[in-house]
Amino acid sequence: MSIRIAIILGSTRPGRVGEGVAQWVHAMASRRNDAEYELVDIKDFNLPLLDEPAPPSRGQYSKEHTKRWAAKIASFDGFVFVAPEYNHGISGALKNAIDFLYKEWNNKAAGFVSYGSAGGTRAVESLRLVMGELQVADVRAQVILSLATDFENFSKFKPTPGHEKALDAMLGQVVAWSGALHGVRQPESVAA
Ligand SMILES: Cc1cc2nc3c(=O)[nH]c(=O)nc-3n(C[C@H](O)[C@H](O)[C@H](O)COP(=O)(O)O)c2cc1C
Repeated sequence: MSIRIAIILGSTRPGRVGEGVAQWVHAMASRRNDAEYELVDIKDFNLPLLDEPAPPSRGQYSKEHTKRWAAKIASFDGFVFVAPEYNHGISGALKNAIDFLYKEWNNKAAGFVSYGSAGGTRAVESLRLVMGELQVADVRAQVILSLATDFENFSKFKPTPGHEKALDAMLGQVVAWSGALHGVRQPESVAA
């Protein structure tokens, strides 16, 4: 079984610094041979503010953009969220993209790469609560990037040494838990 991990770029802002971060995560992850890694840019899905009439937990998706987003997320076993901190939380775009779906997230694993003026840790703490509701197992290891020290002029991503080790540790945990949860995702063993 090949494990598939999505690296989800959580900023859609013009001029976003998250793109460089997500590309770095993808390049580092692609050197490993434990999983297939794909960069998923939520901007490419042109999701409006949640416009589905039925709650996502029912899986009755009516819009083409939702079906496309659902098919993409369903194809993965685990996730790495590249998350900026906006007002001590995650970006509205990322929360909206998460809210669109339900079962496509369930019984999978997730890790986090956060960034911001204060490393984005507060955003990830709140994202961990969201993961709990979606039945996503969030790993402990985390990559925390500071706009002051890991970006030139607070914009061009240039990580200080040490983050590669943290990234490897996090990816190892995500892959391990993604594989372990595979059995839980079999239709006969997943509770409604
Ligand atoms: C709306 C908004 C709110 C922000 N709030 C915070 C914050 O609460 N804490 C923080 O450390 N940085 C904050 N920042 C700084 C961002 O983390 C920084 O601009 C980062 O580059 C955003 O990621 P992006 O460029 O990929 O969109 C905020 C930025 C924006 C645009």
